[in-house]
Amino acid sequence: MKIYEMNLDQRFDYLKRETNLSNHDIKILRNPSSFSFVNADRMVENAIGVLSLPLGIATNFVVNNKSYLVPMATEEPSVIAAASNGAKVAKNSGGFSAECPESLMIGQVQLVSLPISPITARLRIRANKKEILRIANSRSRSVVAKSLQVRELNDKSRNKMGKILLLELLVDTKDAMGANVINTMCESVSSKLEDLTGGKAILKILSNYATKRLVKCRAIFSKDDIGGKDVVENILYAYSLAYTDVYRAVTHNKGIMNGIDAAALATGQDFRAIEAAAHAYAARDGTYRSLTKWYKTRKGDLVGELELPIAVGIVGGATSVNPISKIGLKILGVKTAKELSMVLSAVGLAQNLAALRALASEGIQKGHMRLHARNIAYTAGCRGNHIDLVAKKMSDENSITATRAKEILSSLESKRTGC
Ligand code: MEV
Repeated sequence: MKIYEMNLDQRFDYLKRETNLSNHDIKILRNPSSFSFVNADRMVENAIGVLSLPLGIATNFVVNNKSYLVPMATEEPSVIAAASNGAKVAKNSGGFSAECPESLMIGQVQLVSLPISPITARLRIRANKKEILRIANSRSRSVVAKSLQVRELNDKSRNKMGKILLLELLVDTKDAMGANVINTMCESVSSKLEDLTGGKAILKILSNYATKRLVKCRAIFSKDDIGGKDVVENILYAYSLAYTDVYRAVTHNKGIMNGIDAAALATGQDFRAIEAAAHAYAARDGTYRSLTKWYKTRKGDLVGELELPIAVGIVGGATSVNPISKIGLKILGVKTAKELSMVLSAVGLAQNLAALRALASEGIQKGHMRLHARNIAYTAGCRGNHIDLVAKKMSDENSITATRAKEILSSLESKRTGC
């Protein structure tokens, strides 16, 4: 039985069989107020409640020969089904292969108003490298500042604020996302840097452009599984537009991030950080382009590649506060932050394949509206099994509107009551 054919109890039984979820975890999932107001009030200011989002499971993911059930939190219909479909096609050809060689983040300290030349300042910082790293590392037990680099910049803003000397700490965040500890490290070394250079330290903050946490993912999608050689050809045309035109590239990448964000949200990650870095990376050669690459093998199958920075953590942050995020991580069963980022990259690639395949064949609206029909049916007043009956009829008729939903509903009701 497929997950979508199961009722909620059967879905929980399935999760208990397939993952490490305990009865207590299932109890938390069953209770919509598990993430309490008390928690919310501790986390943000002026809290007035908690906003819920649908949480679902994407299936068929095989990444580096390991199978995953991927929790995804999203308000958008089709996203979870599309990711599962993309992953299924990849699975038929061996799944996704992914790599994430480094987990380094950059912390920046901005020095201005230097009374000495930038070269002299640079030399002084270099000569005191060990001491600066010692100070940074005194603020953390697990995360380690490994190295530092100095860059010299000229202000390009209209205010002409002069030269900027940038001290960058390269910090191995291991299994944490690392934002807090890096910010603390940057603040802790700033007075030493001011003493060494005579300059003024202004910003002391991590960079979310995590180019030293790059993840690469690749998969082969057989031409027969995606609808034949014409669909492959059309996908290559679609890719050519996303590579060449920024208006298409943004939508193409939005589709990739539909998947990555949903899985990131479900596992308690800072999805804004992932988004910001992804879009900057998409513009790394000076033009905003598709984050994925698509090409054909000699046999005519489709190869997809996705490379982007993904800064995530499985310890600390929201993962330690929100009980649902903890369950999300448990369902996924990842052991390290690197493993999590590799799964996220596979979700992004699967999502992109599914979108391109639909766009390059029947169009996106048919499948989307099929799923959307259930929402329309609900909004029109349908409840229980009427939702599926009305949604199916509207899809078959290709007329998915609230007015039609109400008409079908009233004819079902009059049949039931016999008037
Ligand atoms: C919709 O949320 C995402 C898509 O527009 C992505 C794309 O066009 O590639 C379907």
